[in-house]
Amino acid sequence: MRGSLFYLLSLATLIVKTGAVTTCNATKSCPEDLPCCSQGGECGKGNYCLGDCNPSFSFDIDSCMPVPVCKDSSTKFNGYSSKMLNEYTYLGNVSSAEWLYSGNVIDYDDEESLILAMPKNSGGSLLTSTRALWYGKVSVRMKASHLAGVITAMTLFSGVQDEIDYEFVGADIEKVQTNYYWQGSLNWTNSANITVDDVFDNYHIYEIDWHEDHITWSVDGVVGRTLFKNDTYNSTTKEYRFPQTPSKVHLSIWPGGNATNAPGTIAWAGGEIDWDSTDITETGYYYAILNEVNVTCYDPPSGTKKNGTKAYKYVDTDGFSEKSVMITDDEVMLGSYNGTGNDPMLTTSISVSSSSSSSSSSSSSSSSSSKTSSHSSSKSSTSSSRTTSSSSSSTPRSSSQSSASSVTSTGNRAATDIASQSNSSSSSATSSQNNASVINVTNLLTIFSVIVGYLI
Ligand SMILES: *[C@@H]1O[C@H](CO)[C@@H](O)[C@H](O)[C@H]1NC(C)=O
Ligand SMILES: *[C@@H]1O[C@H](CO)[C@@H](O)[C@H](O)[C@H]1NC(C)=O
Ligand SMILES: *[C@@H]1O[C@H](CO)[C@@H](O)[C@H](O)[C@H]1NC(C)=O
Ligand SMILES: *[C@@H]1O[C@H](CO)[C@@H](O)[C@H](O)[C@H]1NC(C)=O
Ligand SMILES: *[C@@H]1O[C@H](CO)[C@@H](O)[C@H](O)[C@H]1NC(C)=O
Ligand SMILES: *[C@@H]1O[C@H](CO)[C@@H](O)[C@H](O)[C@H]1NC(C)=O
Ligand SMILES: *[C@@H]1O[C@H](CO)[C@@H](O)[C@H](O)[C@H]1NC(C)=O
Ligand SMILES: *[C@@H]1O[C@H](CO)[C@@H](O)[C@H](O)[C@H]1NC(C)=O
Ligand SMILES: *[C@@H]1O[C@H](CO)[C@@H](O)[C@H](O)[C@H]1NC(C)=O
Ligand SMILES: *[C@@H]1O[C@H](CO)[C@@H](O)[C@H](O)[C@H]1NC(C)=O
Ligand SMILES: *[C@@H]1O[C@H](CO)[C@@H](O)[C@H](O)[C@H]1NC(C)=O
Ligand SMILES: *[C@@H]1O[C@H](CO)[C@@H](O)[C@H](O)[C@H]1NC(C)=O
Repeated sequence: MRGSLFYLLSLATLIVKTGAVTTCNATKSCPEDLPCCSQGGECGKGNYCLGDCNPSFSFDIDSCMPVPVCKDSSTKFNGYSSKMLNEYTYLGNVSSAEWLYSGNVIDYDDEESLILAMPKNSGGSLLTSTRALWYGKVSVRMKASHLAGVITAMTLFSGVQDEIDYEFVGADIEKVQTNYYWQGSLNWTNSANITVDDVFDNYHIYEIDWHEDHITWSVDGVVGRTLFKNDTYNSTTKEYRFPQTPSKVHLSIWPGGNATNAPGTIAWAGGEIDWDSTDITETGYYYAILNEVNVTCYDPPSGTKKNGTKAYKYVDTDGFSEKSVMITDDEVMLGSYNGTGNDPMLTTSISVSSSSSSSSSSSSSSSSSSKTSSHSSSKSSTSSSRTTSSSSSSTPRSSSQSSASSVTSTGNRAATDIASQSNSSSSSATSSQNNASVINVTNLLTIFSVIVGYLI
């Protein structure tokens, strides 16, 4: 019973790895020149210091950027793909987007929803909220994916890897698994199932109601599981092993059953994924369908230290519990792709010319010419595929012979575009990091809109 911590590792492989990687974990923190430890366990700067930067494995307590505070929201994912920004180029301007994506997202006009797609051999797709909750309620109206090895997940995830989950294992569409983790501690005995009437064909509302002293998981308004904080007390360590730090919302589809994953992960995912199923051959990808997300914020724990109202910030390393978090007015946006929480405006790298950063810049510049041409060619195919897909059949699956062929061609082309694109979007992010010396917001918005437009 392995949880969604693993999808991060698969998604991390989406980022094109060029040159040596500096890793980080509980026993090895990041070095000063690449101070931020990402969720995937890699050290870096820039957007490594945002997202799910882990303050406990980073260079020091200030390396990760503070996280924007919770804000009530109700988001319909209708025509929404152009409103999201790319996770790898986002610098933390929280007024520019509520959601970030990595992977492949496609508007699905017929159901006023957004498709999270997983083309053949890809690592899937992930949406991340730009703000965190501490505490609060998240309700998601969605359809999960199906078939062996395909995992859809709805997760609250914190920098220190507290996690509250729904995990849809595609091999069993009549159940959803619920789980939680405390600081990434892999205890696989905490999973519990809720029975649901077909998570794939039907929209349901999945809710996580996260309070300081308990969590409930509800489906369509019916409580399916309750966890009390007092039941998670470890008397040896005198810790509550209960998720308790500011957490962002993650929505994802990922290949738990990919052949290269650990055997235990594949078994948990219901077996190896079939990359030649009809979802792949006819639609072009496995998919989950996201319709609406509501977020309701609760007050932070009483007694929380406050010096402002805008950001959650870890201020001490004593256990990284809820007592380690303060609310401040600290800056949440980086001023540069070289910026870090230690120096958000940094425009040049700190001295140390490590082999990893120099090899990454040289290989990304060698790929930049192919990047340019693939951008322009797929930009035009993007608009035609968008038109076709909105006028195509009423489901992403083929419902009749004639629509099947139009869906097939759209789907296949989309899948091809997507596949070539997921490489070029990460290399374009990399090359923009290396070329620009100062942030030019106009340039950035152009990059964003090209990348987002390109994905649709
Ligand atoms: C942390 O990473 C180092 C270097 O990669 C490795 O030797 C060590 O075993 C890792 N520790 C843990 C707890 O994973
Ligand atoms: C942040 O984004 C908003 C909305 O797109 C924009 O108006 C503002 O100028 C941006 N701020 C910075 C500092 O880039
Ligand atoms: C999935 O497995 C295939 C081999 O079957 C491999 O080529 C691919 O890189 C893997 N994808 C991910 C995301 O791990
Ligand atoms: C979100 O809130 C609106 C307004 O209260 C409600 O109509 C809708 O059903 C909610 N959606 C979800 C997914 O909870
Ligand atoms: C895992 O969690 C269960 C239930 O909270 C607990 O009884 C068990 O001791 C934990 N195992 C470890 C290794 O922490
Ligand atoms: C949940 O259901 C799956 C099958 O879908 C099963 O393998 C697993 O053991 C169940 N978990 C629990 C805690 O009952
Ligand atoms: C935890 O709190 C709940 C609700 O107050 C209570 O029902 C339960 O008995 C408590 N459990 C323990 C171990 O104290
Ligand atoms: C308490 O924590 C210790 C040390 O991590 C662990 O060995 C033990 O299994 C935990 N006990 C419970 C009941 O979770
Ligand atoms: C509180 O914030 C102000 C400015 O935002 C800063 O100058 C001051 O050092 C902060 N105080 C503490 C205790 O962090
Ligand atoms: C980042 O640092 C490198 C190495 O010092 C420099 O070449 C590059 O221009 C910087 N980029 C930005 C955006 O500051
Ligand atoms: C994208 O990258 C993966 C892994 O680096 C590679 O297998 C695949 O062929 C690339 N796709 C394209 C279209 O370049
Ligand atoms: C930013 O980029 C835009 C478009 O390339 C250009 O017109 C503008 O002059 C640049 N602004 C600055 C301050 O460099």
